[in-house]
Amino acid sequence: MADPHAKMTKATPREVMVSVVLGLFAPLVAIVLIVFLVNSIQSEQVDEDSPEIAEKAVLRNIAPVAKLDAQDASAQRVERSGEEIYNAVCVACHTSGALGAPKLNSKGDWGARIAQGYETLVNNAINGIRAMPPRGGNPDLSDLEMARAVAYMANTSGASFKAPEAAPAAAEAEAATTAAAPAADGKAVFQASCALCHAAGIAGAPKLGDKAAWGPRIAQGQDTLYKHALEGFTGKSGMMPARGGNASLPDGDVKAAVDYMAGQAK
Ligand code: HEC
Ligand code: HEC
Repeated sequence: MADPHAKMTKATPREVMVSVVLGLFAPLVAIVLIVFLVNSIQSEQVDEDSPEIAEKAVLRNIAPVAKLDAQDASAQRVERSGEEIYNAVCVACHTSGALGAPKLNSKGDWGARIAQGYETLVNNAINGIRAMPPRGGNPDLSDLEMARAVAYMANTSGASFKAPEAAPAAAEAEAATTAAAPAADGKAVFQASCALCHAAGIAGAPKLGDKAAWGPRIAQGQDTLYKHALEGFTGKSGMMPARGGNASLPDGDVKAAVDYMAGQAK
């Protein structure tokens, strides 16, 4: 008669070994699998080369500019017309000719002054000249308002100056930037402000040197391309932000970059 205990004691050490090994091994496998899983999720998230990530990075980069732009627009002052400014400020001297001011509707008073050119007149009115105080003595007047008031006055007296329509912020920024960097280098502007999207063709932007993408756009004519680059443009392939999202970029720079891009696709 076999002793059941003997059989048990024979099997027990092996069974113990197996269960010990399995008991250690199973959680180890689980841990390795979890590590793999976490790694693969992480590497998916930091894949800088994927176009969606690059696009998100671009949008993140231009977001502050876009926001700033919106704030500026909402905070923009209302620019008055030349006639309104004249009647509010300049009338004090320029109607009566007080202090020797050239009078409204007086070709005799204005002839020689108009001959100096619009720009000189506007500069003299802004900065003051002899008994003419800077900005007619009202420092709150903007350059645009001054330019309009000068055109209004001079045009009653023989000139035909065209008062600027543009918002002064853009015009002033342009003057400041062009004074600092007179020559607009299209390639340099492209690299600094447009390459972000146009070098690789991100977000639907026509790629530099891609004749197929540029052909029909160039066919619209230079003025349309300038306009779309300056004012922004939403077409079939995506959204082109005004001035490439760089609100302080002067017109000349934007146009130079457009010329450079169009030239690369010919
Ligand atoms: C306090 C009086 C006074 C006020 C106010 C005034 N002006 Fe004058 N302005 C003068 C006098 C005086 C002259 C002539 C200066 C000279 O050539 O000696 C003059 C000359 C000018 C000239 C000609 C400058 C040139 O180069 O020949 C312009 C342009 C002008 N004013 C624009 C304006 C405008 C725009 C305003 C309103 C925003 C204004 N002025 C308000 C007194 C005034
Ligand atoms: C944030 C991305 C982005 C930046 C930065 C950018 N662009 Fe664009 N641009 C686009 C997209 C997208 C289009 C295509 C829009 C469409 O046709 O749907 C485009 C189109 C254009 C066009 C063609 C417009 C037309 O009428 O077909 C011109 C010109 C242009 N961009 C000029 C510029 C210049 C110049 C700069 C730099 C100052 C610039 N872009 C920067 C995204 C960008």
